[in-house]
Amino acid sequence: MMNKTWWKECVVYQIYPRSFADSNGDGIGDLRGITAKLDYLKRLGVDVIWLSPVYRSPNDDNGYDISDYQDIMTEFGTLADMDALIAGMHARGLKLMMDLVVNHTSDEHPWFRQARASRDNPYHDYFIWREPRDGREPNNWEAAFSGSAWEWNEATGEYFLHMFSKKQPDLNWENPRVRREVFDMMHWWFQRGVDGFRMDVINMISKPADLPDAPIIRPGFLQPGFGLVTNGPRLLEYLAEMKRDVLSRYDCITVGEAPLVTVRQGAEITNEETGSLNMLFEFERMDLDSVGGHMNGKWAYKPLDLRDLKTTLSRWQTALHGNGWNSNYLSNHDQPRSVSRFGDDGADRVVSAKMLGTFNHLLQGTPYVYQGEEIGMTNVPFESIDECRDIESLNIYREFVEHQGLTPEQALAPIRVKGRDNARTPMQWSAASQAGFTTGTPWIRVNPNYTAINVEQAVADPDSVFNYYRKLIRLRRENPVFVYGSYHLIVPEHAEIYAFTRTLDAERLLVVLNFSKNSPTFTAPAELSYSGAELLIANYPVETGDVRRFALRPFEARVYRLKV
Ligand code: NOJ
Repeated sequence: MMNKTWWKECVVYQIYPRSFADSNGDGIGDLRGITAKLDYLKRLGVDVIWLSPVYRSPNDDNGYDISDYQDIMTEFGTLADMDALIAGMHARGLKLMMDLVVNHTSDEHPWFRQARASRDNPYHDYFIWREPRDGREPNNWEAAFSGSAWEWNEATGEYFLHMFSKKQPDLNWENPRVRREVFDMMHWWFQRGVDGFRMDVINMISKPADLPDAPIIRPGFLQPGFGLVTNGPRLLEYLAEMKRDVLSRYDCITVGEAPLVTVRQGAEITNEETGSLNMLFEFERMDLDSVGGHMNGKWAYKPLDLRDLKTTLSRWQTALHGNGWNSNYLSNHDQPRSVSRFGDDGADRVVSAKMLGTFNHLLQGTPYVYQGEEIGMTNVPFESIDECRDIESLNIYREFVEHQGLTPEQALAPIRVKGRDNARTPMQWSAASQAGFTTGTPWIRVNPNYTAINVEQAVADPDSVFNYYRKLIRLRRENPVFVYGSYHLIVPEHAEIYAFTRTLDAERLLVVLNFSKNSPTFTAPAELSYSGAELLIANYPVETGDVRRFALRPFEARVYRLKV
Protein backbone atom coordinates (compact mmCIF):
# COMPACT_ATOMS: atom_id res chain seq x y z
CA MET A 1 0.00 0.00 0.00
CA MET A 2 1.48 3.33 -1.00
CA ASN A 3 0.05 6.54 0.39
CA LYS A 4 -0.13 9.49 -1.94
CA THR A 5 1.54 12.58 -0.55
CA TRP A 6 2.87 15.87 -1.88
CA TRP A 7 6.46 15.22 -0.93
CA LYS A 8 6.49 12.18 -3.20
CA GLU A 9 5.00 14.13 -6.07
CA CYS A 10 7.16 17.25 -5.82
CA VAL A 11 10.43 18.11 -7.53
CA VAL A 12 13.06 19.69 -5.29
CA TYR A 13 15.56 22.29 -6.49
CA GLN A 14 18.73 22.79 -4.48
CA ILE A 15 20.23 26.25 -4.15
CA TYR A 16 23.79 26.80 -2.97
CA PRO A 17 23.21 30.39 -1.87
CA ARG A 18 26.81 31.53 -2.00
CA SER A 19 26.87 30.85 -5.75
CA PHE A 20 23.32 31.48 -6.88
CA ALA A 21 22.72 35.21 -7.31
CA ASP A 22 24.43 38.23 -5.78
CA SER A 23 22.17 41.26 -5.26
CA ASN A 24 24.66 43.70 -3.72
CA GLY A 25 27.87 43.30 -5.71
CA ASP A 26 30.04 41.86 -2.92
CA GLY A 27 30.75 38.77 -5.04
CA ILE A 28 28.77 36.46 -2.74
CA GLY A 29 25.27 35.21 -3.50
CA ASP A 30 22.58 36.27 -1.02
CA LEU A 31 18.93 35.92 -0.01
CA ARG A 32 17.70 38.92 -1.98
CA GLY A 33 19.43 37.43 -5.00
CA ILE A 34 17.39 34.26 -4.55
CA THR A 35 14.14 36.17 -4.06
CA ALA A 36 14.77 37.94 -7.36
CA LYS A 37 15.00 34.59 -9.15
CA LEU A 38 11.86 32.94 -7.83
CA ASP A 39 9.96 33.49 -11.05
CA TYR A 40 12.69 31.64 -12.91
CA LEU A 41 12.29 28.66 -10.57
CA LYS A 42 8.54 28.81 -10.91
CA ARG A 43 8.95 28.75 -14.67
CA LEU A 44 11.12 25.66 -14.42
CA GLY A 45 8.23 24.08 -12.54
CA VAL A 46 9.87 22.86 -9.35
CA ASP A 47 7.83 22.75 -6.14
CA VAL A 48 10.28 22.79 -3.26
CA ILE A 49 13.52 24.69 -2.76
CA TRP A 50 16.26 23.30 -0.56
CA LEU A 51 18.61 26.00 0.59
CA SER A 52 22.09 24.94 1.61
CA PRO A 53 22.84 26.57 4.99
CA VAL A 54 22.12 30.28 5.33
CA TYR A 55 22.71 30.52 9.08
CA ARG A 56 25.35 32.66 10.78
CA SER A 57 28.71 31.05 10.06
CA PRO A 58 32.43 31.83 9.89
CA ASN A 59 32.44 29.82 6.64
CA ASP A 60 35.20 27.39 7.26
CA ASP A 61 33.01 24.95 5.28
CA ASN A 62 30.73 27.46 3.54
CA GLY A 63 27.96 27.53 6.09
CA TYR A 64 28.11 23.88 7.18
CA ASP A 65 29.82 25.28 10.29
CA ILE A 66 27.09 27.19 12.11
CA SER A 67 27.73 29.72 14.87
CA ASP A 68 24.08 30.78 15.33
CA TYR A 69 21.15 28.63 14.22
CA GLN A 70 18.69 31.46 14.65
CA ASP A 71 20.31 34.14 12.58
CA ILE A 72 21.42 34.63 8.97
CA MET A 73 24.96 34.66 7.62
CA THR A 74 26.04 38.29 7.42
CA GLU A 75 26.97 38.02 3.74
CA PHE A 76 23.56 36.53 2.89
CA GLY A 77 21.38 39.18 4.54
CA THR A 78 19.08 39.38 7.54
CA LEU A 79 16.16 37.55 9.12
CA ALA A 80 13.93 40.14 7.48
CA ASP A 81 15.34 39.09 4.08
CA MET A 82 14.64 35.51 5.04
CA ASP A 83 11.03 36.33 5.92
CA ALA A 84 10.69 38.09 2.58
CA LEU A 85 12.12 35.06 0.77
CA ILE A 86 9.71 32.71 2.54
CA ALA A 87 6.79 35.02 1.75
CA GLY A 88 7.89 35.27 -1.90
CA MET A 89 8.07 31.51 -2.15
CA HIS A 90 4.75 30.85 -0.49
CA ALA A 91 3.07 33.47 -2.67
CA ARG A 92 4.19 31.41 -5.68
CA GLY A 93 3.22 28.06 -4.18
CA LEU A 94 6.85 27.08 -3.58
CA LYS A 95 7.92 25.34 -0.39
CA LEU A 96 11.16 25.83 1.50
CA MET A 97 13.45 23.19 2.91
CA MET A 98 16.24 24.42 5.19
CA ASP A 99 19.52 22.62 5.75
CA LEU A 100 19.70 21.25 9.28
CA VAL A 101 23.32 20.85 10.31
CA VAL A 102 23.26 19.36 13.78
CA ASN A 103 25.90 16.66 13.80
CA HIS A 104 28.29 19.51 14.55
CA THR A 105 28.38 23.27 15.10
CA SER A 106 31.08 25.82 14.40
CA ASP A 107 33.82 26.17 17.00
CA GLU A 108 32.66 29.79 17.11
CA HIS A 109 29.17 28.83 18.30
CA PRO A 110 28.63 30.18 21.86
CA TRP A 111 27.97 26.61 23.05
CA PHE A 112 31.43 25.56 22.00
CA ARG A 113 33.12 28.70 23.26
CA GLN A 114 31.64 27.92 26.66
CA ALA A 115 32.26 24.21 26.40
CA ARG A 116 35.96 24.57 25.78
CA ALA A 117 36.49 27.03 28.65
CA SER A 118 36.41 24.50 31.49
CA ARG A 119 35.38 20.96 32.28
CA ASP A 120 32.69 22.13 34.67
CA ASN A 121 31.08 24.63 32.33
CA PRO A 122 27.40 23.65 31.80
CA TYR A 123 28.02 23.49 28.03
CA HIS A 124 31.04 21.24 28.28
CA ASP A 125 28.95 18.14 27.81
CA TYR A 126 27.37 19.51 24.61
CA PHE A 127 30.43 18.18 22.74
CA ILE A 128 32.53 15.03 22.70
CA TRP A 129 35.73 15.05 24.77
CA ARG A 130 38.40 12.47 25.48
CA GLU A 131 41.62 12.30 27.45
CA PRO A 132 44.83 11.78 25.47
CA ARG A 133 45.85 8.19 24.81
CA ASP A 134 49.57 7.72 25.49
CA GLY A 135 49.98 11.48 25.22
CA ARG A 136 48.35 11.57 21.79
CA GLU A 137 44.96 11.56 20.02
CA PRO A 138 42.39 9.21 21.60
CA ASN A 139 42.04 7.04 18.47
CA ASN A 140 43.25 6.65 14.88
CA TRP A 141 40.35 8.35 13.08
CA GLU A 142 40.92 10.69 10.19
CA ALA A 143 38.55 13.63 9.75
CA ALA A 144 36.65 13.95 6.47
CA PHE A 145 38.75 16.93 5.51
CA SER A 146 42.13 15.27 6.28
CA GLY A 147 44.16 15.21 9.50
CA SER A 148 43.08 13.72 12.81
CA ALA A 149 39.43 13.79 13.87
CA TRP A 150 40.67 15.06 17.25
CA GLU A 151 41.82 18.53 18.23
CA TRP A 152 43.61 19.42 21.43
CA ASN A 153 41.97 21.91 23.80
CA GLU A 154 44.53 23.39 26.15
CA ALA A 155 42.09 24.89 28.68
CA THR A 156 40.56 21.53 29.63
CA GLY A 157 43.50 19.26 28.79
CA GLU A 158 41.34 17.16 26.46
CA TYR A 159 40.76 16.45 22.83
CA PHE A 160 37.40 17.16 21.16
CA LEU A 161 35.98 15.14 18.28
CA HIS A 162 35.38 16.66 14.86
CA MET A 163 34.44 14.31 12.02
CA PHE A 164 34.85 17.20 9.54
CA SER A 165 37.13 20.25 9.91
CA LYS A 166 38.63 21.18 13.27
CA LYS A 167 36.28 24.16 13.20
CA GLN A 168 33.28 21.76 13.19
CA PRO A 169 33.14 20.09 16.63
CA ASP A 170 30.67 17.18 16.85
CA LEU A 171 27.70 17.68 19.14
CA ASN A 172 27.07 15.17 21.91
CA TRP A 173 23.57 13.84 21.20
CA GLU A 174 23.78 11.65 24.30
CA ASN A 175 23.10 14.84 26.23
CA PRO A 176 19.30 15.37 26.38
CA ARG A 177 19.85 19.15 26.59
CA VAL A 178 21.49 19.08 23.16
CA ARG A 179 18.50 17.29 21.70
CA ARG A 180 16.14 19.76 23.38
CA GLU A 181 18.06 22.72 21.90
CA VAL A 182 17.96 21.21 18.40
CA PHE A 183 14.26 20.40 18.58
CA ASP A 184 13.38 23.86 19.91
CA MET A 185 15.37 25.44 17.09
CA MET A 186 13.49 23.30 14.53
CA HIS A 187 10.14 24.42 15.98
CA TRP A 188 11.31 28.03 15.76
CA TRP A 189 12.02 27.66 12.02
CA PHE A 190 8.79 25.80 11.35
CA GLN A 191 6.92 28.59 13.05
CA ARG A 192 8.76 31.08 10.86
CA GLY A 193 7.33 29.30 7.85
CA VAL A 194 9.79 26.68 6.63
CA ASP A 195 8.28 23.52 5.18
CA GLY A 196 10.95 20.97 5.97
CA PHE A 197 14.57 20.06 6.46
CA ARG A 198 17.41 18.42 4.61
CA MET A 199 19.45 16.92 7.43
CA ASP A 200 23.20 17.03 7.09
CA VAL A 201 24.99 13.70 7.82
CA ILE A 202 22.09 12.83 10.10
CA ASN A 203 23.04 9.17 10.42
CA MET A 204 26.26 10.22 12.20
CA ILE A 205 24.65 11.75 15.30
CA SER A 206 24.95 8.68 17.50
CA LYS A 207 28.53 7.66 18.29
CA PRO A 208 29.57 4.30 19.76
CA ALA A 209 30.36 4.81 23.45
CA ASP A 210 33.93 3.53 23.33
CA LEU A 211 35.00 5.29 20.08
CA PRO A 212 37.24 2.38 19.08
CA ASP A 213 40.12 2.55 16.58
CA ALA A 214 39.06 2.12 12.96
CA PRO A 215 40.34 -0.89 11.02
CA ILE A 216 43.62 -0.20 9.25
CA ILE A 217 43.23 0.21 5.50
CA ARG A 218 46.01 2.79 5.09
CA PRO A 219 49.06 1.51 6.94
CA GLY A 220 51.15 4.37 8.30
CA PHE A 221 48.30 6.91 7.99
CA LEU A 222 45.18 7.85 9.92
CA GLN A 223 42.10 5.71 9.16
CA PRO A 224 38.63 6.71 7.93
CA GLY A 225 36.31 6.60 10.94
CA PHE A 226 32.96 7.13 9.21
CA GLY A 227 32.14 3.43 9.29
CA LEU A 228 32.12 3.60 13.07
CA VAL A 229 29.87 6.61 13.51
CA THR A 230 27.19 6.05 10.87
CA ASN A 231 24.14 4.15 12.06
CA GLY A 232 25.29 4.36 15.69
CA PRO A 233 23.56 2.57 18.58
CA ARG A 234 21.01 5.31 19.39
CA LEU A 235 20.40 6.72 15.90
CA LEU A 236 16.88 5.33 15.47
CA GLU A 237 15.94 6.39 18.98
CA TYR A 238 17.08 9.98 18.35
CA LEU A 239 15.25 10.15 15.05
CA ALA A 240 12.09 8.74 16.62
CA GLU A 241 12.33 11.38 19.34
CA MET A 242 12.72 14.09 16.69
CA LYS A 243 9.69 12.75 14.86
CA ARG A 244 7.59 12.58 17.99
CA ASP A 245 8.65 15.93 19.34
CA VAL A 246 8.88 17.96 16.13
CA LEU A 247 8.29 16.46 12.70
CA SER A 248 4.94 14.80 13.42
CA ARG A 249 3.49 18.19 14.31
CA TYR A 250 3.97 19.68 10.85
CA ASP A 251 3.02 18.72 7.31
CA CYS A 252 6.66 18.78 6.28
CA ILE A 253 9.23 17.24 3.97
CA THR A 254 12.41 15.64 5.31
CA VAL A 255 15.45 14.12 3.67
CA GLY A 256 18.40 12.82 5.64
CA GLU A 257 21.89 12.80 4.21
CA ALA A 258 23.21 9.36 5.09
CA PRO A 259 26.74 8.35 4.13
CA LEU A 260 27.32 4.57 4.04
CA VAL A 261 23.63 3.85 4.66
CA THR A 262 22.55 0.37 3.59
CA VAL A 263 19.28 -0.54 1.89
CA ARG A 264 18.05 -2.24 5.04
CA GLN A 265 18.72 0.84 7.18
CA GLY A 266 17.23 3.03 4.46
CA ALA A 267 14.00 1.04 4.48
CA GLU A 268 13.89 1.19 8.27
CA ILE A 269 14.41 4.96 8.48
CA THR A 270 12.03 5.90 5.66
CA ASN A 271 9.24 3.44 6.43
CA GLU A 272 6.09 5.51 6.45
CA GLU A 273 4.62 4.04 9.61
CA THR A 274 7.58 3.05 11.69
CA GLY A 275 10.40 5.22 10.29
CA SER A 276 11.16 8.85 11.04
CA LEU A 277 12.23 10.58 7.83
CA ASN A 278 10.56 10.80 4.41
CA MET A 279 13.67 9.87 2.46
CA LEU A 280 17.45 9.70 2.49
CA PHE A 281 20.35 10.62 0.29
CA GLU A 282 22.21 7.35 -0.02
CA PHE A 283 25.79 7.39 -1.34
CA GLU A 284 26.28 4.05 -3.03
CA ARG A 285 25.56 5.61 -6.42
CA MET A 286 28.28 8.18 -5.79
CA ASP A 287 30.92 5.61 -4.87
CA LEU A 288 30.74 3.51 -8.04
CA ASP A 289 33.38 5.51 -9.92
CA SER A 290 35.95 5.21 -7.12
CA VAL A 291 38.31 2.30 -6.58
CA GLY A 292 36.76 0.50 -3.58
CA GLY A 293 38.91 0.30 -0.43
CA HIS A 294 41.60 2.56 -1.89
CA MET A 295 43.48 4.65 0.67
CA ASN A 296 42.62 7.83 -1.24
CA GLY A 297 38.88 7.17 -1.02
CA LYS A 298 36.78 9.15 -3.48
CA TRP A 299 39.84 10.70 -5.12
CA ALA A 300 40.92 7.31 -6.53
CA TYR A 301 38.57 7.39 -9.49
CA LYS A 302 37.80 4.77 -12.10
CA PRO A 303 35.30 4.78 -14.98
CA LEU A 304 31.75 3.91 -14.02
CA ASP A 305 30.52 0.48 -15.11
CA LEU A 306 26.86 1.10 -15.94
CA ARG A 307 25.94 -2.38 -14.70
CA ASP A 308 27.10 -1.39 -11.20
CA LEU A 309 24.77 1.60 -11.31
CA LYS A 310 21.88 -0.62 -12.40
CA THR A 311 22.55 -3.17 -9.67
CA THR A 312 22.80 -0.52 -6.98
CA LEU A 313 19.83 1.60 -7.95
CA SER A 314 17.62 -1.39 -8.69
CA ARG A 315 18.33 -2.67 -5.21
CA TRP A 316 17.19 0.65 -3.71
CA GLN A 317 14.19 0.95 -6.04
CA THR A 318 12.95 -2.52 -5.21
CA ALA A 319 13.64 -2.52 -1.49
CA LEU A 320 11.85 0.77 -0.80
CA HIS A 321 8.85 0.24 -3.08
CA GLY A 322 5.67 0.44 -1.00
CA ASN A 323 7.80 0.44 2.10
CA GLY A 324 9.93 3.56 2.27
CA TRP A 325 10.73 6.27 -0.26
CA ASN A 326 13.75 7.10 -2.42
CA SER A 327 15.32 10.41 -3.30
CA ASN A 328 16.88 10.68 -6.75
CA TYR A 329 19.91 12.83 -7.32
CA LEU A 330 22.87 12.88 -9.65
CA SER A 331 24.56 15.98 -8.36
CA ASN A 332 24.68 18.46 -5.51
CA HIS A 333 27.14 20.90 -3.93
CA ASP A 334 29.41 18.02 -2.82
CA GLN A 335 29.69 16.29 -6.17
CA PRO A 336 31.11 17.11 -9.57
CA ARG A 337 28.65 18.19 -12.27
CA SER A 338 26.55 15.24 -13.41
CA VAL A 339 26.88 15.94 -17.13
CA SER A 340 30.69 15.86 -16.83
CA ARG A 341 30.63 12.78 -14.65
CA PHE A 342 27.96 10.54 -16.18
CA GLY A 343 27.40 12.14 -19.60
CA ASP A 344 29.57 14.15 -21.94
CA ASP A 345 30.44 17.80 -21.43
CA GLY A 346 31.77 18.21 -24.97
CA ALA A 347 29.83 17.75 -28.21
CA ASP A 348 27.07 15.67 -26.58
CA ARG A 349 26.53 17.97 -23.61
CA VAL A 350 22.93 18.89 -24.36
CA VAL A 351 21.67 15.42 -25.27
CA SER A 352 23.50 13.75 -22.42
CA ALA A 353 22.25 16.31 -19.87
CA LYS A 354 18.71 15.60 -21.10
CA MET A 355 19.25 11.87 -20.89
CA LEU A 356 20.47 12.17 -17.29
CA GLY A 357 17.54 14.43 -16.42
CA THR A 358 15.17 11.82 -17.86
CA PHE A 359 16.82 9.19 -15.69
CA ASN A 360 16.59 11.28 -12.53
CA HIS A 361 12.91 12.11 -13.05
CA LEU A 362 11.81 8.63 -14.13
CA LEU A 363 13.15 6.56 -11.26
CA GLN A 364 10.74 6.07 -8.39
CA GLY A 365 11.42 8.66 -5.72
CA THR A 366 11.52 12.41 -5.31
CA PRO A 367 13.87 14.05 -7.84
CA TYR A 368 16.41 16.65 -6.73
CA VAL A 369 17.75 19.12 -9.27
CA TYR A 370 20.95 20.95 -8.33
CA GLN A 371 21.29 24.58 -9.44
CA GLY A 372 22.73 24.79 -12.94
CA GLU A 373 21.95 21.16 -13.74
CA GLU A 374 18.84 22.38 -15.56
CA ILE A 375 21.02 24.27 -18.04
CA GLY A 376 23.68 21.56 -18.28
CA MET A 377 26.45 23.32 -16.35
CA THR A 378 29.77 21.45 -16.45
CA ASN A 379 32.89 20.84 -14.39
CA VAL A 380 35.45 23.60 -14.31
CA PRO A 381 38.92 23.50 -15.88
CA PHE A 382 40.75 24.66 -12.73
CA GLU A 383 44.26 25.63 -13.75
CA SER A 384 45.83 25.58 -10.31
CA ILE A 385 44.89 24.92 -6.72
CA ASP A 386 44.86 28.69 -6.17
CA GLU A 387 41.56 28.81 -8.03
CA CYS A 388 39.94 26.30 -5.65
CA ARG A 389 38.17 27.40 -2.47
CA ASP A 390 36.85 24.23 -0.87
CA ILE A 391 38.52 23.20 2.40
CA GLU A 392 38.28 19.55 1.37
CA SER A 393 40.22 20.13 -1.87
CA LEU A 394 42.77 22.46 -0.29
CA ASN A 395 43.51 19.96 2.47
CA ILE A 396 43.73 16.89 0.25
CA TYR A 397 45.98 18.78 -2.15
CA ARG A 398 48.36 19.51 0.70
CA GLU A 399 48.26 15.88 1.78
CA PHE A 400 48.93 14.65 -1.76
CA VAL A 401 51.89 16.98 -2.21
CA GLU A 402 53.38 16.94 1.28
CA HIS A 403 52.71 13.40 2.45
CA GLN A 404 52.26 11.37 -0.71
CA GLY A 405 54.93 13.11 -2.79
CA LEU A 406 52.68 13.93 -5.77
CA THR A 407 53.56 16.76 -8.17
CA PRO A 408 51.18 19.75 -8.21
CA GLU A 409 49.79 18.55 -11.54
CA GLN A 410 49.23 15.01 -10.23
CA ALA A 411 47.59 16.37 -7.09
CA LEU A 412 45.26 18.64 -9.05
CA ALA A 413 44.11 15.92 -11.47
CA PRO A 414 41.68 14.13 -9.11
CA ILE A 415 40.45 17.47 -7.74
CA ARG A 416 39.49 18.48 -11.27
CA VAL A 417 37.45 15.29 -11.59
CA LYS A 418 35.90 14.98 -8.15
CA GLY A 419 36.40 18.30 -6.35
CA ARG A 420 33.33 19.99 -4.88
CA ASP A 421 34.23 23.38 -6.33
CA ASN A 422 33.12 22.04 -9.73
CA ALA A 423 29.56 22.49 -8.53
CA ARG A 424 30.16 25.71 -6.62
CA THR A 425 31.15 28.16 -9.33
CA PRO A 426 28.57 30.90 -9.90
CA MET A 427 25.24 30.14 -11.50
CA GLN A 428 25.47 31.16 -15.15
CA TRP A 429 22.62 33.58 -15.73
CA SER A 430 23.73 35.26 -18.94
CA ALA A 431 26.66 35.99 -21.25
CA ALA A 432 27.25 39.30 -19.44
CA SER A 433 30.32 39.91 -17.29
CA GLN A 434 30.74 37.29 -14.50
CA ALA A 435 27.85 35.35 -16.06
CA GLY A 436 25.43 37.92 -14.67
CA PHE A 437 26.00 36.49 -11.19
CA THR A 438 27.51 39.62 -9.66
CA THR A 439 28.54 43.14 -10.55
CA GLY A 440 31.60 42.66 -8.35
CA THR A 441 34.33 40.03 -8.17
CA PRO A 442 32.93 36.58 -7.46
CA TRP A 443 34.29 34.64 -4.46
CA ILE A 444 35.19 31.82 -6.83
CA ARG A 445 35.90 32.10 -10.53
CA VAL A 446 33.13 31.78 -13.07
CA ASN A 447 33.32 28.80 -15.41
CA PRO A 448 34.68 30.27 -18.68
CA ASN A 449 31.98 28.49 -20.70
CA TYR A 450 29.29 30.86 -19.37
CA THR A 451 29.18 32.78 -22.64
CA ALA A 452 27.63 29.69 -24.29
CA ILE A 453 25.99 27.97 -21.32
CA ASN A 454 23.65 30.28 -19.43
CA VAL A 455 20.04 30.74 -18.36
CA GLU A 456 19.24 33.49 -20.81
CA GLN A 457 20.25 31.28 -23.73
CA ALA A 458 18.55 28.20 -22.28
CA VAL A 459 15.21 29.87 -21.60
CA ALA A 460 15.06 31.24 -25.15
CA ASP A 461 16.11 28.03 -26.92
CA PRO A 462 13.21 25.56 -27.32
CA ASP A 463 15.70 22.67 -27.58
CA SER A 464 17.63 23.55 -24.44
CA VAL A 465 18.18 21.36 -21.42
CA PHE A 466 16.06 23.87 -19.47
CA ASN A 467 13.03 23.49 -21.70
CA TYR A 468 13.43 19.72 -21.67
CA TYR A 469 13.47 19.78 -17.84
CA ARG A 470 10.28 21.84 -17.87
CA LYS A 471 8.61 19.19 -19.95
CA LEU A 472 9.89 16.37 -17.74
CA ILE A 473 8.61 18.10 -14.63
CA ARG A 474 5.24 18.78 -16.23
CA LEU A 475 4.89 15.17 -17.38
CA ARG A 476 5.73 13.97 -13.89
CA ARG A 477 3.05 16.22 -12.46
CA GLU A 478 0.43 15.04 -14.95
CA ASN A 479 1.14 11.29 -14.84
CA PRO A 480 0.89 9.49 -11.49
CA VAL A 481 2.75 6.52 -13.00
CA PHE A 482 5.92 8.69 -12.99
CA VAL A 483 5.61 9.01 -9.24
CA TYR A 484 3.95 5.85 -8.03
CA GLY A 485 4.64 3.27 -10.73
CA SER A 486 6.68 0.25 -9.66
CA TYR A 487 10.15 -0.11 -11.20
CA HIS A 488 11.31 -3.09 -13.17
CA LEU A 489 14.78 -3.30 -14.72
CA ILE A 490 15.06 -4.79 -18.22
CA VAL A 491 18.15 -5.76 -20.26
CA PRO A 492 20.11 -5.88 -16.96
CA GLU A 493 23.34 -7.11 -18.54
CA HIS A 494 23.64 -4.42 -21.18
CA ALA A 495 26.76 -2.31 -20.58
CA GLU A 496 25.51 0.83 -22.35
CA ILE A 497 21.72 0.86 -22.15
CA TYR A 498 19.84 1.44 -18.91
CA ALA A 499 16.22 0.46 -19.54
CA PHE A 500 13.30 -0.08 -17.18
CA THR A 501 9.56 -0.01 -16.97
CA ARG A 502 7.30 1.76 -14.51
CA THR A 503 3.89 0.26 -13.93
CA LEU A 504 0.83 1.59 -12.14
CA ASP A 505 -2.41 -0.37 -12.55
CA ALA A 506 -3.05 -0.55 -16.30
CA GLU A 507 -0.42 2.04 -17.17
CA ARG A 508 3.12 1.22 -18.12
CA LEU A 509 6.07 3.40 -19.09
CA LEU A 510 9.06 2.13 -21.02
CA VAL A 511 12.24 4.13 -20.32
CA VAL A 512 15.25 3.49 -22.56
CA LEU A 513 18.48 5.41 -21.93
CA ASN A 514 21.79 5.15 -23.74
CA PHE A 515 24.57 6.06 -21.32
CA SER A 516 27.24 5.84 -24.04
CA LYS A 517 28.60 7.71 -27.05
CA ASN A 518 27.98 4.59 -29.13
CA SER A 519 24.87 3.45 -31.01
CA PRO A 520 23.74 0.22 -29.37
CA THR A 521 20.48 -1.48 -30.35
CA PHE A 522 17.76 -1.86 -27.76
CA THR A 523 15.85 -5.14 -27.91
CA ALA A 524 12.97 -5.49 -25.49
CA PRO A 525 12.66 -8.76 -23.61
CA ALA A 526 10.06 -11.14 -25.05
CA GLU A 527 7.77 -10.81 -22.02
CA LEU A 528 7.30 -7.06 -22.55
CA SER A 529 3.86 -7.08 -24.13
CA TYR A 530 1.97 -4.06 -25.40
CA SER A 531 -0.64 -3.23 -27.97
CA GLY A 532 0.33 0.35 -28.71
CA ALA A 533 2.97 2.88 -27.75
CA GLU A 534 2.96 6.62 -27.42
CA LEU A 535 6.22 8.58 -27.20
CA LEU A 536 6.05 10.90 -24.18
CA ILE A 537 9.48 12.52 -24.31
CA ALA A 538 12.77 12.01 -26.13
CA ASN A 539 15.99 13.95 -26.57
CA TYR A 540 16.22 13.35 -30.36
CA PRO A 541 13.53 13.45 -33.05
CA VAL A 542 11.93 10.00 -33.16
CA GLU A 543 9.95 8.40 -36.01
CA THR A 544 7.08 6.20 -34.99
CA GLY A 545 8.22 2.62 -35.27
CA ASP A 546 8.83 -0.58 -33.42
CA VAL A 547 9.50 0.06 -29.75
CA ARG A 548 10.62 -3.52 -29.24
CA ARG A 549 13.81 -3.01 -31.21
CA PHE A 550 15.56 0.16 -32.26
CA ALA A 551 19.05 1.65 -32.58
CA LEU A 552 19.93 4.41 -30.15
CA ARG A 553 21.95 7.49 -30.95
CA PRO A 554 24.66 8.74 -28.50
CA PHE A 555 23.09 9.40 -25.09
CA GLU A 556 19.60 8.97 -26.51
CA ALA A 557 16.65 8.86 -24.10
CA ARG A 558 13.11 7.79 -24.92
CA VAL A 559 10.09 7.39 -22.69
CA TYR A 560 7.05 5.58 -24.10
CA ARG A 561 3.64 5.04 -22.63
CA LEU A 562 2.66 1.49 -23.48
CA LYS A 563 -0.90 0.30 -23.87
CA VAL A 564 -1.10 -3.03 -22.13
C1 NOJ B 1 27.66 17.21 4.12
C2 NOJ B 1 27.51 18.51 3.40
O1 NOJ B 1 26.71 18.32 2.27
C3 NOJ B 1 28.90 18.98 3.08
O2 NOJ B 1 28.91 20.07 2.20
C4 NOJ B 1 29.57 19.32 4.38
O3 NOJ B 1 30.93 19.64 4.12
C5 NOJ B 1 29.53 18.15 5.36
N1 NOJ B 1 28.27 17.47 5.38
C6 NOJ B 1 29.81 18.63 6.75
O4 NOJ B 1 28.74 19.40 7.21
